[in-house]
Amino acid sequence: MEEIKVAQYGEKSVYFEQNTGQITIHSNGEVKIINPSSSEGMDLLRQELGAGISEILAAIKKFALVNAVPHQLTTPGAAVPEGFIGRERELDGIHTRLHAGGNALALVNAEGGMGKTTLAAAYWKRFSSEYQHLAWLFCEKGILEAMRSYLPEPLGLREKMNEVAADTDKQMRLIISTMANLPKTACWFWTTPTNPRTFKGLNGIAQGWAGTC
Ligand SMILES: Nc1ncnc2c1ncn2[C@@H]1O[C@H](COP(=O)(O)OP(=O)(O)OP(=O)(O)O)[C@@H](O)[C@H]1O
Ligand SMILES: [Mg+2]
Repeated sequence: MEEIKVAQYGEKSVYFEQNTGQITIHSNGEVKIINPSSSEGMDLLRQELGAGISEILAAIKKFALVNAVPHQLTTPGAAVPEGFIGRERELDGIHTRLHAGGNALALVNAEGGMGKTTLAAAYWKRFSSEYQHLAWLFCEKGILEAMRSYLPEPLGLREKMNEVAADTDKQMRLIISTMANLPKTACWFWTTPTNPRTFKGLNGIAQGWAGTC
């Protein structure tokens, strides 16, 4: 969770939490959490901040524009061919599995040329609106390396990555903790060649990951 301080009114410190979109007001040891996207939330904010509310909303809007994590963190790495046929069972199967609760993973494994990558592309196309974020990673050098090369930019981490440039482990922890704080419905595709064992240890970072190998 990353809270950003957006204003100070007397003893009231106003913070914005970028992942949940909530505002927290700290005052004399008391914390109020307000959701500005509801009308009750807006009423509460008005009560708390009076005329200060417009300044707060402008600051949040500016911040959100600069820092918004895009819906698609990458473009999909493959297209669905015009003559795409079948795969209804597989598409449903992956979907069911990824919505099974917990930190579900799905792994598509088949011989070369059987259509794994195309299936991933079809899943992306069909279900992308159900996910807060999607990412498609080519993992020639492994998942961690792919995360490090594809994700810092869309996650808004470029500057922070530079600050810990000398420490690869710190960079990875930064990416992983940011991913773990994204809304739970994130879909990540790890594409060929990926060893199924690489999935071990990545569980719990984001829900709804699928991979092909
Ligand atoms: N359901 C489908 N309907 C029509 N064409 C398909 C379908 N699935 C795959 N293809 C076609 O078959 C070819 C191989 O598919 P794809 O690249 O997805 O296989 P793959 O299993 O990922 O292969 P590799 O193991 O080499 O990565 C592609 O030309 C693709 O367009
Ligand atoms: Mg493939």
